Amino acid sequence: MRVIAIDGPAGSGKSTVARRLAERLGTAYLDTGAMYRAVALAALRRGIDPGDAEPVARMAPNLEIVVEPGRVEVDGVDATIEIRGPEVTRAVSEVAANAVVRTELVRRQREWVAERGGAVVEGRDIGSVVFPDAELRAYLHARADVRASRRHQEVSDTAYEAVAADLDRRDTHDSEREADPLTCAEGAVVVDTSDRGVDDIVDELLDHLAPAP
Ligand code: DC
Repeated sequence: MRVIAIDGPAGSGKSTVARRLAERLGTAYLDTGAMYRAVALAALRRGIDPGDAEPVARMAPNLEIVVEPGRVEVDGVDATIEIRGPEVTRAVSEVAANAVVRTELVRRQREWVAERGGAVVEGRDIGSVVFPDAELRAYLHARADVRASRRHQEVSDTAYEAVAADLDRRDTHDSEREADPLTCAEGAVVVDTSDRGVDDIVDELLDHLAPAP
């Protein structure tokens, strides 16, 4: 089973790179951030405070989450657009710091990949926790101003300063939490994506893979 782990902070370009890499390899692609966003949305829908650890932990194992290319469902309802909205984006790092949620989602991520016989998997803890034995572990990063501009282009109705501040807040939260913080896994291929094109980065990652048998 071929597994490729791509980690990095928001705006590092990991989604774009991971998606293109999966295309080039002809394998499945899993965005694990979408799963954390799905749990955050489910909490908000139920009126649960995302920072209230116990009720969020009780809810997570019973949640129906479907993640497919271009589509995310929560409890049987399409949530593809809603999980990218500002409310979920604000709530998600608290949910992602919940150790029970993480254990449950890591289990589901491993199952998702096994069912498909391998995948390119992107997130924050993929090379360090979810698939430490992945064939390739990559850590993507970029300068703060580049990451903020990329995010700003995605959410053009929000002021640049607000996007940059939110990114900074989430980075700190994701890196400093106790449960599986964002870290660069030992032995990971580290790529600064600030001034590079997607295919150039994908080519570099492909160079690290053994040719398919
Ligand atoms: O990549 P993203 O912005 O969609 O991720 C949403 C949140 O989930 C973000 O706060 C980081 C967190 N996350 C995580 O803790 N572990 C992962 N494997 C993926 C995302």
